[in-house]
Amino acid sequence: MKNIAVIGAGTMGNGIAHTFAQFGYKVKLIDISEENLSRGIATITKNLDRMVAKEKISEEEKKQTLENITVYTSIEEGVEYAGLVVEAATENEKIKLDIFRELDEACPEETILASNTSSISITKIASVTKRPEKVIGMHFMNPVPIMKLVEIIRGYNTSDEVTETIMELSKNLKKVPTEVNDYPGFVANRILMPMLNEAIETLYNNVAGVEEIDTVMKLGMAHPMGPLQLADFIGLDVCLSILEVMYDGFKNPKYAPCPLLVNMVRAGKTGVKSGEGFYDYSQSKKAEKVAEQFI
Ligand SMILES: NC(=O)c1ccc[n+]([C@@H]2O[C@H](COP(=O)([O-])OP(=O)(O)OC[C@H]3O[C@@H](n4cnc5c(N)ncnc54)[C@H](O)[C@@H]3O)[C@@H](O)[C@H]2O)c1
Repeated sequence: MKNIAVIGAGTMGNGIAHTFAQFGYKVKLIDISEENLSRGIATITKNLDRMVAKEKISEEEKKQTLENITVYTSIEEGVEYAGLVVEAATENEKIKLDIFRELDEACPEETILASNTSSISITKIASVTKRPEKVIGMHFMNPVPIMKLVEIIRGYNTSDEVTETIMELSKNLKKVPTEVNDYPGFVANRILMPMLNEAIETLYNNVAGVEEIDTVMKLGMAHPMGPLQLADFIGLDVCLSILEVMYDGFKNPKYAPCPLLVNMVRAGKTGVKSGEGFYDYSQSKKAEKVAEQFI
């Protein structure tokens, strides 16, 4: 399997395309927005430059990686020869179900369809296709080229063979795939999101300020990034939508999103991507500086 299609050229999609391309796969990167495709390629180029500067890859590997990626705005054209499609479009159930219906029609019968969703049920996504045994979750972590984990989510009908193929493929990317079952939040977000939500609740209750909460968790718990900063990087809208999926899925108030998080998202303060969240990223190079510690 050498031909991969990646749907969505945003934060995660460009990282996933970068990673496959770096390990020699031919990647077709697909997005409805030409602007996002250009921005995605610019981000990949910048991240590769950083890797060259840190002597993690050679100039030649950078060139080869970029040559392995081509961009498309049409799903039908982009997935024509794909052995695997990794969907990393906006975290919205309707958008994903529509994409998987289209993929099921457009892809060859044997193509495996993976989703990078943070929270939407893989079993539900699979149910809109005629190949539920070939639908699986491949939950990469941000920033994809650096983070080792891929949470592999088995839907109710995902076959052993498909799971094994995706586990092996992830190892070819020098990642550590970890198999989990399909329940709201899977494992990573089921544990992470209540912690981020609690940090926001702690701020909302005036127990401490933003910097203080992050400092306690960074220096006291040896977390590389404070929870409020991490929420800004993930995107407050993404955090809210994951918490809502868990709240709905388990019907348990412990997952109820903090009112401050809800208000900030309503006000358009979604974190790094909007220029403001718990921190202000509009004037400073703060986001770039924090990211540089990790990439
Ligand atoms: N941001 C994170 O830290 C993170 C981590 C793990 C998983 N995820 C998951 O990855 C997925 C993508 O998240 P992101 O943060 O990269 O989002 P993003 O908003 O940065 O990018 C989403 C991209 O999808 C494109 N898109 C929307 N509808 C499309 C369609 N019909 N066809 C093709 N492209 C389409 C948009 O134009 C955009 O470029 C989500 O499911 C999210 O839950 C995000």
